Amino acid sequence: NQPHKKVKTNETPLEFTVLATHNFARASIMRLPHGEVLTPVYMPVGTKGAMKGVTYSEMDDLGCKLLLANTYHLAYKPGGNLLEKVGGLHNFVNWKHNILTDSGGFQMVSLSQLSEVTEEGVTFESPYDKSTMHLRPEDSIHTQNQIGADIIMALDDVVRTTTVGPRMQEASERTTRWLDRDIAAHKRKHDQNLFPIVQGGIDPKLREQSLNDLIQREANGYAIGGLAGGEDKVDFWKTVAQCTATLPVNKPRYLMGVGYPVDVVVCSCLGVDMFDCVFSTRTARFGTAFTDNGFLKLKNKEAANVFEPIQKGCQCQACKSYTQSYIHYLIAREEVACHLISVHNLNYLIQLMLNLRQSIIDGKLIEFINEFLKKWFKNEG
Ligand code: GUN
Ligand code: ZN
Repeated sequence: NQPHKKVKTNETPLEFTVLATHNFARASIMRLPHGEVLTPVYMPVGTKGAMKGVTYSEMDDLGCKLLLANTYHLAYKPGGNLLEKVGGLHNFVNWKHNILTDSGGFQMVSLSQLSEVTEEGVTFESPYDKSTMHLRPEDSIHTQNQIGADIIMALDDVVRTTTVGPRMQEASERTTRWLDRDIAAHKRKHDQNLFPIVQGGIDPKLREQSLNDLIQREANGYAIGGLAGGEDKVDFWKTVAQCTATLPVNKPRYLMGVGYPVDVVVCSCLGVDMFDCVFSTRTARFGTAFTDNGFLKLKNKEAANVFEPIQKGCQCQACKSYTQSYIHYLIAREEVACHLISVHNLNYLIQLMLNLRQSIIDGKLIEFINEFLKKWFKNEG
């Protein structure tokens, strides 16, 4: 008798377990090569391999288990070859948890003045030194293999959300053709997850086509792209809802570029599991903090006389140690003010997701939403 040998047939670098649901909302665990991630999750953005104004060791203290970096910026500097030589971005920046790299596709929009797209790929003129970079699907995937993130993104043809007509259709269909080239070029399927990105703007027919094409390719997770670019809120929600209703229930869904607190709460209810956005740290650099009662502008002179933390009960470094008055004073003088507000905003979003997640598990999502919205809009209207 041969001893029973366990053959792992579908070995995968991602396991996704849904623990609890409320309507479309899910509380899950996503197991990646660098550990578990509790979802829904907000992923802080360190575009160039560093958070703006926050160290990775502080990100660890905030409980962050998955953060984002960008292939276009890293390919420019320090370059894929150097990152491969040091054993990947995890080693280079000394981050022991998970990383997700965006493909560079979005820079077609954010650097649109400097980019040209053809069927072959995209060519960028560097905003730094006028050098050119060719980013074909094969190049993006090769660089992402060198960077070594746990989740890597397909190179998509991204156009502004508000684009209509044949260009939107072309971009959406090209994204699928490029996905096949991405998949063929991907050399690390055993330890890196390639997520396709659903495109199609706010046109339900194009979205449906994109969804069907991508779902056929059977990825370990999917992203929803091309949103939060100036479209109406109703179109935004309808498109997210269409995508989450169609994507497989047993795989994570990542809504790209969305990180406004009300949006992450609403979209979690629509069944999104992952979010990223530079908004929390960008707005911090302008002196704006997230609180339960909405945005707090610490530059305003009223803050000078508030001898309380940004958010009572917040366990972040800024709130445990400093008053609004002191941070208001610092803003005009010292960089560290931006640092403190960034840490607070990141902590706020990370905790918001954990609290929302717990409410799904406890069967109390409705109460959570009521409480959140009541407080958030307290100072408006
Ligand atoms: N970041 C925000 N939106 C998008 C998108 O549609 N594609 C990519 N690659 N990144 C994004
Ligand atoms: Zn705080």
